[in-house]
Amino acid sequence: MNGTLLWNGTALPFRAGETVASALTRAGVRHFGTTPQGQARALFCGIGQCQNCLVHDGTGLTEACLLPCRDGMALTDAGARHD
Ligand code: FES
Repeated sequence: MNGTLLWNGTALPFRAGETVASALTRAGVRHFGTTPQGQARALFCGIGQCQNCLVHDGTGLTEACLLPCRDGMALTDAGARHD
């Protein structure tokens, strides 16, 4: 099922079966957050190994490349949070 997710308060469409990283990338989002060292987080390995795509899903940080899209889900960039 196609749907819509909220990224930093902006509605973005996703396609059925898509991960959050895929939907964000397709929407032109390249910066998923900032590391505690101030470096940009972005899609890198795409298989859950590098932790570079962490986003905040409201409960904690999670890998966007492994996270399936759900209609209405709200996500924010990881910033420099450690939780
Ligand atoms: S891009 Fe490496 S864990 Fe997601």
